[in-house]
Amino acid sequence: MDLKQKILKRKAEIGIVGLGYVGLPLAMEFVESGFMVHGIDLNASRVECINQGISHVLDVKSEVLKKAVDSGRFKAYPTYSVVSDVDCVIICVPTPLRHTKDPDMSHIISATENIAKRIHKNMLIVLQSTTYPGTTDELLVPALKTDHLELGRDLFVAFSPERVDPGNPQYNTRNTPKIVGGVTPRCTEMAKTLYEQAIERVIPVSSTATAEMVKLLENTFRAVNIGLVNEIAIICEKLGISVWEVIQAAASKPFGFMPFYPGPGLGGHCIPIDPLYLSWKLKALNYNARFIEMASDVNTHMPEYCVQRIHRIMNTVKKCVNGSRILVLGVAYKPDITDVRESPALDIIRLLQLDGAVVDFADPYVPEVAIEGQSLKSVAATAESLKTYDLAVVVTHHSCFDYEMIQANSQLIFDTRNAYKTGAENVFKL
Ligand SMILES: NC(=O)c1ccc[n+]([C@@H]2O[C@H](COP(=O)([O-])OP(=O)(O)OC[C@H]3O[C@@H](n4cnc5c(N)ncnc54)[C@H](O)[C@@H]3O)[C@@H](O)[C@H]2O)c1
Repeated sequence: MDLKQKILKRKAEIGIVGLGYVGLPLAMEFVESGFMVHGIDLNASRVECINQGISHVLDVKSEVLKKAVDSGRFKAYPTYSVVSDVDCVIICVPTPLRHTKDPDMSHIISATENIAKRIHKNMLIVLQSTTYPGTTDELLVPALKTDHLELGRDLFVAFSPERVDPGNPQYNTRNTPKIVGGVTPRCTEMAKTLYEQAIERVIPVSSTATAEMVKLLENTFRAVNIGLVNEIAIICEKLGISVWEVIQAAASKPFGFMPFYPGPGLGGHCIPIDPLYLSWKLKALNYNARFIEMASDVNTHMPEYCVQRIHRIMNTVKKCVNGSRILVLGVAYKPDITDVRESPALDIIRLLQLDGAVVDFADPYVPEVAIEGQSLKSVAATAESLKTYDLAVVVTHHSCFDYEMIQANSQLIFDTRNAYKTGAENVFKL
């Protein structure tokens, strides 16, 4: 049976490399669609929990994972040996930045090398990690190619960007349209066939680099628009205008305007990082991606701007930050999730500590964070505890916070998220 028939008959076995926010929900969709799925993750303790049906990803309920494991159609492994027996492999490993802000391709390289050792005829390999245009052609294809397997006939390689928005109640892996671009037209067709078994709409594009660029356009669009509105927030404050009122009124225009909202900075594994993959690639072509660099500059300085605002707010009551007690409300990078990667809250805590403040945080989703190697544990935001702080700063507007109670019991509040819609004397907004 050829690979396409195997996929259509649900006889193809699928390997998912990297069982994080992207890989685990994807694995569940393929199990749900009737496939045998093998997860591969180098984090052995994560693998052990997954095989016990304990999910570390908010979008995958432990009951769903347990059911998949118990059905015998899903198992996780801490090694790559199972790749020798699978028909399709989807790579979902991290693509962070190095300290120098250059792409860290080490996870993709290591995953590709491990797959290459186990490559066989009639195999489809799809890269799903976000990366710069050219990665699939320049890194994967040379590493995977062998003399005895012809690309597009015996071996199929494609790129398909991940667009999942963790915690989004409306759009999930299954109903978010999927882009695919293969190294050859047959590679595109094979990848499209695979995803169509688990995802409602699959859109083919002409090349792997196009598919890689689609993802970077989407996230650069967000980063640049957030950078713009963050700058507008700073401008509005200088002019004594509420940026929130301006955006609300502008959003009444039924065409040509899309509201974006300012905040304390960018967070998560995507928006702060992905555009820099693109600008890095362009540097090698002697081109300076100006919009990306400028948006990144504005966005990365937002925590510093917020701390300056806190200094000024404290001044209004003749207090200084040095020696004061400050409570950060919310450290996850967005509301109602547990992820703190790149969260601006961590920068705000660090900067306030540097200025001499005693800082605590309250986040029902995050029990503990590390700031400069020091562990900080979440405290409860109760009426009694709030009274003991000089200022509370809303960094992440989790829906479970009791904002009325917080306002009633806090001396001063700096609201970076428009959590307070009506004015109160002790609430200062970004
Ligand atoms: N999280 C999101 O919302 C999101 C959205 C769109 C795209 N992406 C992209 O998807 C990719 C994966 O992101 P994520 O959020 O799932 O990451 P993650 O950190 O949640 O999960 C990655 C997993 O890969 C494992 N891993 C690392 N190196 C490995 C290797 N060589 N072999 C096997 N396993 C390995 C890690 O142990 C981890 O469990 C990234 O490129 C990211 O930019 C993420």
